[in-house]
Amino acid sequence: AGAPGLFKARLTAEPAVARFAEGKDTPILAYNGTSPGPLIGAYEGDRVEITFANRIGEASTIHWHGMPVPADQDGNPMDPVAVGADRVYAFDLPEGSAGSYWYHPHPHGRTAEQVYRGLAGAFVVKSKADPVPAAYGDTVLVFTDLRLAGDGSMPDNTMTDLMNGRVGDHVLVNGQKNPRLVVGIGAKRRLRLYNATNARFLRLAFHGAAATIIGTDGGLLEAPVAADEILLSPAERVELVISFDKPGSATLTTLAYDRGWMGAGRPADAGLTLLTVDVSKNPAEPVPPLPERLRPIAPLSVPAVGRRLVFTETMTMTATDMQMGFLINGKAFDMARVDIVAKAGQTELWEIVNQADMDHPFHVHGTQFQVIEHERGGKVAKPPYLAWKDTVNVARGETVRLLLRQERPGQRMYHCHILEHEQLGMMGILDVK
Ligand code: C2O
Ligand code: CU
Ligand code: CU
Repeated sequence: AGAPGLFKARLTAEPAVARFAEGKDTPILAYNGTSPGPLIGAYEGDRVEITFANRIGEASTIHWHGMPVPADQDGNPMDPVAVGADRVYAFDLPEGSAGSYWYHPHPHGRTAEQVYRGLAGAFVVKSKADPVPAAYGDTVLVFTDLRLAGDGSMPDNTMTDLMNGRVGDHVLVNGQKNPRLVVGIGAKRRLRLYNATNARFLRLAFHGAAATIIGTDGGLLEAPVAADEILLSPAERVELVISFDKPGSATLTTLAYDRGWMGAGRPADAGLTLLTVDVSKNPAEPVPPLPERLRPIAPLSVPAVGRRLVFTETMTMTATDMQMGFLINGKAFDMARVDIVAKAGQTELWEIVNQADMDHPFHVHGTQFQVIEHERGGKVAKPPYLAWKDTVNVARGETVRLLLRQERPGQRMYHCHILEHEQLGMMGILDVK
């Protein structure tokens, strides 16, 4: 904390070996030897300079998911870092940007595979005047999922993976299966949950402890909101405060969620235990209560422009094969085509219409937006609270309306964050002038 600082780091992407199964080596891709990559923590006001060393044997980039960075520093597919090359990403973290962001590759056509093989990490921007008591700690939980072949290697994507997005067999938390935490009774913990999987929807509930939502992708809410369950679609984050008021074991588990599945092999989604917390009978050090107000959020104002983005899936059958296409407004991604031109500083209303058979989590780069309504079957629902988001699930048959304002010029990507869908075309380019 204190005066604005210079935050410098180096991220080397390279092949590494992990041990997920007894006696078997799994070749992975890692940042600085670990997957998830190192947790980056910087403060609002900091200048960030991160040197990316690409040692994975193919082109890559680092994208700063959700962060307000200049377009030419955002790791776009148009700005690849060649095999063996280094590049510096430099940006300032503005005041008010505290939040739970992440970083991952975004090279053209290779994002899905580089991420499922291990390249992703959390980037937390902290506030110097954080209203959440420091005694709650600040624990980052990055969910990834993993599929292993019999020899311990990670199999390539199948046709099912390409259609539905790759869903692994094991959900890992910070690279581990069902890790344990120990707390005293009466403890409160601040947890930041990240869905860094390619395509797994996580409908989550705590048992034996009470959860309160305090923040979303782009930082704190205005006020805490009690939550029985949370749906975290791919790429979404949520900040929680968990109160451990009963001795015994508290668990974070998954609930069933029907996200639309094509073909056979729908993975089991309910009843997985992701995290276990042993709550001992020994009382924890007393902690201050959670404040009733966290921070003000100014609602985005009347939009100057409206956009409509229709998401569809297409299927083409040939004698031997089936080709899926994932389209926005009837088009597959083209790196040489600008799809939308917008003005910096102008608020827009975006209507995301999902006419497909699967949920598609919508994400846009370079800014945070505010969801104003969800419509399904003619019924309109307002979100229960005002929040800054960079990813929102658009369920099948649903229309989501959101207000969006890009402050910085340059080209930004928007796409479905099921990374296989992004790769198969469900992405566009927004050029901000
Ligand atoms: Cu998480 Cu286009 O990114
Ligand atoms: Cu992003
Ligand atoms: Cu999708």
